[in-house]
Amino acid sequence: MKTVFNSLKYFFALFSILGLSPVFSQHDPHGAMRVDERWMVEFPGMMQDHLLANMRDHLLAIGEIQEAMGLGNYDKASQIAEERLGQSSLKTHGAYENSKFMPRAMQELGNQMHRSASQFAIELQNASATGDVKPALLALSKTTQACVSCHAAFRFK
Ligand code: HEC
Repeated sequence: MKTVFNSLKYFFALFSILGLSPVFSQHDPHGAMRVDERWMVEFPGMMQDHLLANMRDHLLAIGEIQEAMGLGNYDKASQIAEERLGQSSLKTHGAYENSKFMPRAMQELGNQMHRSASQFAIELQNASATGDVKPALLALSKTTQACVSCHAAFRFK
């Protein structure tokens, strides 16, 4: 229940940030809000499959980063963060092509995710120099919050 609550929290945070006001019309008879009020987006052809494969790689990358961090290998973690999640990943996964089919708010959340991940990569380099990993962990949490915000707001058809 806490997870659902958190998703909704991000959902509302997103819309207040973007200055939009979603209209919720579906309430069940007990007054509880329906959980699935996400916007549907549709991408042509195989693009949707590619995006989902890319999403799965995002999650894989986060796992690999956590493993590298656990082993104290912050440089390797930084490299994975930048190449697979950060701004550098935009070229490799054809973000420009994909983003043309995204609503503006979704593009913005994607940008936010990539920017946070690049910041995370920098904090990992700092951790490598100072041994203090806390700023990197905070930056990681910012990155995953961007994943959560987008998932709370959008789904594929
Ligand atoms: C700009 C929006 C956006 C961002 C940012 C985003 N995702 Fe997604 N992701 C989606 C959408 C849309 C789906 C499809 C959900 C659906 O249709 O139910 C999805 C699906 C997924 C899936 C399921 C893949 C499958 O095969 O079904 C995983 C895993 C995932 N995302 C991981 C991540 C991770 C990890 C991050 C952050 C590092 C992330 N995503 C960031 C939009 C986003």
